[in-house]
Amino acid sequence: MNVLLIGGNGFIGSHLVDKLLEAGHKVRVFDKYEESYRKPLPEVDYRFGDFSNRGLLADALAGIDNVVHLISTTLPKTSNDDPVFDVQSNVVESIFLLEQCVARKIKRVIFISSGGTVYGKPETLPIGENSPTDPKCSYGITKLTIEKYLALFNLLYGLDYVVLRPSNAYGERQNPNNIQGAVTVFLSKVARGEPIEIWGDGDVVRDYIYIDDLVEGIYRAVIVNSPSRIFNLGSGTGYSLNEIVAAISRLTGRDVKAEYKPKRSFDVSRIILDISRARQELRWKPSTSLDSGIMKTWAFIKELNQI
Ligand SMILES: NC(=O)c1ccc[n+]([C@@H]2O[C@H](COP(=O)([O-])OP(=O)(O)OC[C@H]3O[C@@H](n4cnc5c(N)ncnc54)[C@H](O)[C@@H]3O)[C@@H](O)[C@H]2O)c1
Repeated sequence: MNVLLIGGNGFIGSHLVDKLLEAGHKVRVFDKYEESYRKPLPEVDYRFGDFSNRGLLADALAGIDNVVHLISTTLPKTSNDDPVFDVQSNVVESIFLLEQCVARKIKRVIFISSGGTVYGKPETLPIGENSPTDPKCSYGITKLTIEKYLALFNLLYGLDYVVLRPSNAYGERQNPNNIQGAVTVFLSKVARGEPIEIWGDGDVVRDYIYIDDLVEGIYRAVIVNSPSRIFNLGSGTGYSLNEIVAAISRLTGRDVKAEYKPKRSFDVSRIILDISRARQELRWKPSTSLDSGIMKTWAFIKELNQI
């Protein structure tokens, strides 16, 4: 199969590239930048351009079977600073992408949405895909809007699609200097002997998924024909930030200093995803324990910091 990964040189995309190549597929990547943590791979057909460059994007779709849309121009925190930019750069350009996918008879579009933001404050845990959606940040609203346009394009033009709602991913090749990605960012601070910043009292609970498990789930959505179109991909287990800090301290053997900052208004208190639908229909299950995922990520961070 010929697969185009839009935003494929980022954290999740780079691991999906490996998975698809291993399984014998042909991979093309459309991205603004090269990968940050390794050299370009000879087997990959790289196309460089901004998501808003419609000519280049349309050209990248030639000869492609399935498209995985991994671009987000904002993060949950930054999205609220400029919602007009968020909608323009994510929603409007994604609609253009869908139009091109219809015109070029793309077989399936897999969209990486967000399990951590589309539901908002959950009524019950774990959160199933049919739970109410009530995002508390622009990022979640744009993700949900793109999901709705996928459904509309399916209704109007028969475009096949799958929406994946991942929880908080972590692992090798995640940017440790970002403002999100707690496990990787915390490990990086620990490696440099800097304090970990925690917004709120550390009781915020999230569902952390190790990158290999997430990528296996995305891969299943690329190749499996499933009756459902929307899937949560998480570990199905929740850990508080304080529990993550304790696990990092225990596993790295380092003295971890935490600095508690005021709570952020858009952080909902507990997110744990119900992953039974993906288990059943995609025949997928996460298999990496938190301890094992932290140790693999710690090895990457130590290598980056040459320690
Ligand atoms: N990392 C997570 O925990 C997580 C959780 C849920 C959902 N997601 C979603 O998964 C997707 C991939 O996330 P990631 O963690 O790999 O992010 P990332 O930032 O590592 O990768 C995104 C890639 O998109 C590219 N990109 C961004 N804006 C672009 C533009 N305007 N034009 C061209 N390329 C552009 C970047 O260069 C980068 O290579 C995103 O849509 C994100 O919202 C991530």
